Amino acid sequence: MDYRILMDKAIEASKNAYCPYSHFPVGACVLTDNGKVYQGCNFENSSFGLTICAERNAIGSAVVDGEKKVKAVAIYSPNMEDCYPCGACRQVLHEFKSDSGMDIITLRGDELSVSPIEELLPKGFNL
Ligand code: THU
Repeated sequence: MDYRILMDKAIEASKNAYCPYSHFPVGACVLTDNGKVYQGCNFENSSFGLTICAERNAIGSAVVDGEKKVKAVAIYSPNMEDCYPCGACRQVLHEFKSDSGMDIITLRGDELSVSPIEELLPKGFNL
């Protein structure tokens, strides 16, 4: 799949973000080895620590549908160019990377940036 289409779906998902405390909407869209796509957005809570990031929301939707190998993830915030995943999400993404690797896609202006997950999380934890 064209990574621009994946990014468009991340942009679409960011519009449903629930972020009344940070006012920082994020959308994500994951692409699995089977060619399926799952969107996620961040959703916050009055108890701030319960916030779920967009990337983890999207991964959860993939997993509940039986999809556990993710080859690409687009992430978008209207508030930030090149919105890279937080540290916690990098570890969660690492858990579900495809055997062929995982591309992390961000947007700067009109340009997509593509980074392998290993570049964002070298030596990720494996049990
Ligand atoms: N956020 C994400 O959704 N993904 C990230 O990787 C970074 C942070 C959200 C969490 C919170 O709702 C808001 O952005 C500000 O931290």
